Amino acid sequence: MAISLILVVAAAENGVIGRDNRLLWRLRTDLKRFRELTLGKPMIMGRKTYESIGKPLPGRETIVLTRDGGFSPPGVHVVHSWNEAVAKGEGLAQAMGADAVAVVGGAEIYRIALPHVRKIYLTEVAVAPEGDAFFPPVDLTRFRELARVAHSESPDDEYPFTFIDFERRY
Ligand SMILES: NC(=O)c1ccc[n+]([C@@H]2O[C@H](COP(=O)([O-])OP(=O)(O)OC[C@H]3O[C@@H](n4cnc5c(N)ncnc54)[C@H](OP(=O)(O)O)[C@@H]3O)[C@@H](O)[C@H]2O)c1
Repeated sequence: MAISLILVVAAAENGVIGRDNRLLWRLRTDLKRFRELTLGKPMIMGRKTYESIGKPLPGRETIVLTRDGGFSPPGVHVVHSWNEAVAKGEGLAQAMGADAVAVVGGAEIYRIALPHVRKIYLTEVAVAPEGDAFFPPVDLTRFRELARVAHSESPDDEYPFTFIDFERRY
């Protein structure tokens, strides 16, 4: 089975994805989508994002990128380069019977992954907060939009947001 790389991100209108190593919104519907998109798959994340989550998420395998040779929290796969992360992700996906490896941030890891991912699952949050971590605008010469679903703000979701799926143009 061919294994593809997908990227899952929630970004504000101004590209902000976080501040002080935390998220800036409470969107239960988006957390649910994140869970659905990543469940049963290996996930690649940066050390800072891992620390902001604080533990491996159940039902997935967590691959953490760090340059720190001494970093070894229990229950995660620690890697030290992008190529090692992808190789580990593909191996785990095969073992799990998954068709994709999900790249889940943060900003540094998205930057490295973007030239390589086949799909982007963007949640565009209708807010423009101050932040210190950013996702770039999706380059429409490289990706085309596949689907778009708008959601209103609700008791579960602090702001309106839109799920937008992109696929790489070949
Ligand atoms: N809104 C969203 O969808 C979303 C998703 C995820 C994260 N976030 C937010 O994004 C922010 C974190 O992003 P960030 O850019 O600061 O950090 P990050 O991408 O999560 O992690 C950066 C770390 O990854 C390691 N790393 C990066 N490139 C590497 C390489 N080539 N080889 C080996 N290790 C490498 C380094 O770890 P060491 O320093 O240990 O060497 C680096 O400090 C937080 O605010 C978080 O809440 C938002």
